[in-house]
Amino acid sequence: MKQKATPLFDALQQFSEMNPISFHVPGHKNGEIFPENVQTYFSSILKLDMTELSGLDDLHSPHGTIAEAQSLAAEYFGADATYFLVGGSTAGNLAMILATCSTNEKVIVQRNSHKSIFNGLELSGARPIFITPEFDNSVDRYTAPNIKTLKGALEQHPDAKAVVLTYPDYFGKTFPIKESIELAHEYNIPVLVDEAHGVHFSIDKAFPQSALDLGADVVIHSAHKMAPAMTMGSFLHFRSRLVSKDKITHYLQLIQSSSPSYPLMASLDIARSFLATMKAEDIDNIMESVAMVRDILEVPELWDILPANDPLKITLQLKDGVSAKGVASLLENQHVYPELVTHNQVLLIHGLAPFENINHLKKAVKRIKEQLKICPNHATIEIDNLFTDIHELTVSYQTLQQRDTLKVPLNKSSGYVAAEAIIPYPPGIPLILKGERITDKHINIIRHLTEQGVEIQHRDKMNGISVLNTKEQIT
Ligand SMILES: Cc1ncc(COP(=O)(O)O)c(C=O)c1O
Repeated sequence: MKQKATPLFDALQQFSEMNPISFHVPGHKNGEIFPENVQTYFSSILKLDMTELSGLDDLHSPHGTIAEAQSLAAEYFGADATYFLVGGSTAGNLAMILATCSTNEKVIVQRNSHKSIFNGLELSGARPIFITPEFDNSVDRYTAPNIKTLKGALEQHPDAKAVVLTYPDYFGKTFPIKESIELAHEYNIPVLVDEAHGVHFSIDKAFPQSALDLGADVVIHSAHKMAPAMTMGSFLHFRSRLVSKDKITHYLQLIQSSSPSYPLMASLDIARSFLATMKAEDIDNIMESVAMVRDILEVPELWDILPANDPLKITLQLKDGVSAKGVASLLENQHVYPELVTHNQVLLIHGLAPFENINHLKKAVKRIKEQLKICPNHATIEIDNLFTDIHELTVSYQTLQQRDTLKVPLNKSSGYVAAEAIIPYPPGIPLILKGERITDKHINIIRHLTEQGVEIQHRDKMNGISVLNTKEQIT
């Protein structure tokens, strides 16, 4: 079967088996120059850590094994072209935005996007038109964009250069994205989809459909998140008459390293082959295992296990008085590491194979039941109503660049315009964007999240938040 092939990995393996003599970079010389005490961990991978040598092709001008590996990926995922990304979905998100819009051009963007989307917008100097997704009270977070809001945004801004959506969200929640894609296409506007968490959607109907199959123009996959690829290994898939393929290639060349990691690219080749050759029986076994893990995790007095569009995402939603951070810490004490902790949820990701450490997990859950303390009257806080349905930055990226900034402590920042994003991480969705005005509500939410043990990213925690040096209205 053609999809079983792993041309890039095979080329590296064959090259390495020749015992080649290295007079080239990288400086570890096929692993020969490397501290002895860590050799055992690194040696086999360093043998594959090559550079653009004869027969190993060049990511920035592929015509051999990398081209072949990318074509196999395109064929499997149903793209016209697939590009290997060595800088994560971050690189893909930046490239797809830079390729579709430039200074002052409008882009319709789901407000609860990952920070890499906003970084792309800032680099392009575009004018984001934000669509506020629905707030789902049952999970206490913003989730999917509403088709009516998108329609409103398209009617008000038919000159937008792209619509940028995220599908699924971190928790595996999807929405009827086909409607959104078709609507945007009626305006001849391309749809760019950050599908970082959905590389496995092409496997089988056990999973939601990929946005690529549903007509999206550019789709980004973090292969490393849900498939067996090395960290940072990702894909950009292209299938569009509205986006310039040349521009995608151009911006990928600008963004990606001139020395892309070969083990990483080979892991993309292997991950694609792994996904493409999964059998119905493998999927059945995984689904059985998911059901079993969910069963083990069943502790109705402490949390609910939420239903999910993506069965691999297992979300524990804590009951009132149960601390998510507390649950995560107890799990970690038993060497069970969840993916993500928010103020009210703990997310666990099941792999693409049956789970094997059943007794270990059972013991960890038992310990939690014995040790977790419930504090019934813990504080809660409203985190919805942060935005109007369709809105823009208070201050454009261009103006932000020209203005002086200062640092203010978080509790004194209300009324200022943020000159940096404030980001609960993970999931990496900015609570305050660079260019948005900070309000008392933001400050209360950040304080609350911090108290709940949620990590907040901003540049300089010691000296406070970077803001524009005036609270005046800036046009
Ligand atoms: C929705 C979403 N998009 C993009 C990214 C960035 O992906 P990567 O880490 O592969 O750069 C993430 C990372 O968590 C994400 O959650």
